[in-house]
Amino acid sequence: MFLRNALKTASAILRLRLLGTRTPLSVILSVTNRCNFDCAYCPVRSHTMPEMSTGELLGLIDEMADAGTQRVGLMGGEPMMRDDIGEVIARCKRRGMFVTMGTNGSMLTEDDNLDKVRGVDALVFSIDGPSAHDRYRHEGSYQLVLDAMKLARRNGIEVWNTAVLTDLSVGDIDILLDLSEEHGFATNFSPLMHSEVCADDRRHPSLDREGYIRAVDRLIEEKRRGRPIINSLSYLRYIREWPDLSETLHLGDTPKGAPRLPCYASRLFCYVECNGDVYPCNTLIGRYQPPNALATGFRTAFESLGERPCTACYSFGYTELNLVFGLRYDAVLNALSLARKR
Ligand SMILES: C[S@@+](CC[C@H](N)C(=O)[O-])C[C@H]1O[C@@H](n2cnc3c(N)ncnc32)[C@H](O)[C@@H]1O
Repeated sequence: MFLRNALKTASAILRLRLLGTRTPLSVILSVTNRCNFDCAYCPVRSHTMPEMSTGELLGLIDEMADAGTQRVGLMGGEPMMRDDIGEVIARCKRRGMFVTMGTNGSMLTEDDNLDKVRGVDALVFSIDGPSAHDRYRHEGSYQLVLDAMKLARRNGIEVWNTAVLTDLSVGDIDILLDLSEEHGFATNFSPLMHSEVCADDRRHPSLDREGYIRAVDRLIEEKRRGRPIINSLSYLRYIREWPDLSETLHLGDTPKGAPRLPCYASRLFCYVECNGDVYPCNTLIGRYQPPNALATGFRTAFESLGERPCTACYSFGYTELNLVFGLRYDAVLNALSLARKR
């Protein structure tokens, strides 16, 4: 699968460059906005809409595969809130996709819930570290996610981690890297995205620019030392230059000093909301009138994505994809080494 997907990816990049042909190679697919957690910095709580039925979701996955999707990131809400998540994963795998699923781990128990997710290529836990995790979720949530991560590792499931860089988690970088090494997984450090929905939450984290730069410099140093950090060096350097942490997406003119990077949203990747709405990426929710895959079919919806109203952002997943699709050498090698593990 690795070689086939790598070749298909290379050919889609080439076709885009030579002929302008767009292919939805990578799709973040939200399967639900329901969640059993209420994280202080997560805006998903404001996205209320009906979610696709099992039949609609499986049909969409078939259409994605037919349109050329190689990689799907199942997202939420909490994807495990869906009883049919095992079927969803199995269908993505049957259609040859590289599948990851983000989870808070709280529903991953020794029973059939574990069997439902065994098929993924990587389970992406959210572990922010002992100082931040319970503070920005709820008491006991850190222990829950540690137990789930250990259960997954004992059962041979590939694990990745996402830790959000906040005032409290930056002090736990060592702990997170030690934990990653001890249990054989890698951690992606994601900058805190500003969200108007969450800004009023009394638990909302803050991070001053100085602390942020110190943390990113530290990550660059540890990445060079070969520690298990998912972010590429190019990505870490990119976010280090980001001028204003309260503005994570630039609409209109890019301010002086903000790093620039060609964006492949709506050309090689997209985001699908749990009701089938198709966006170039999820940072544009509320800022973009989306076509709907259930109404028009996925390929048509993807191909009808229009001009994006933005000029730059520093969201983890998308920036890393932009570096890979823009053929930034170290980001490509970094992505290949992650995918090849399977
Ligand atoms: C929205 S959650 C959904 C999946 C699952 N419920 C979980 O907890 O991992 C996906 C990831 O987004 C991260 N996230 C949520 N809000 C964020 C924000 N404002 N900035 C950066 N990352 C955020 C979470 O920490 C988590 O790692």
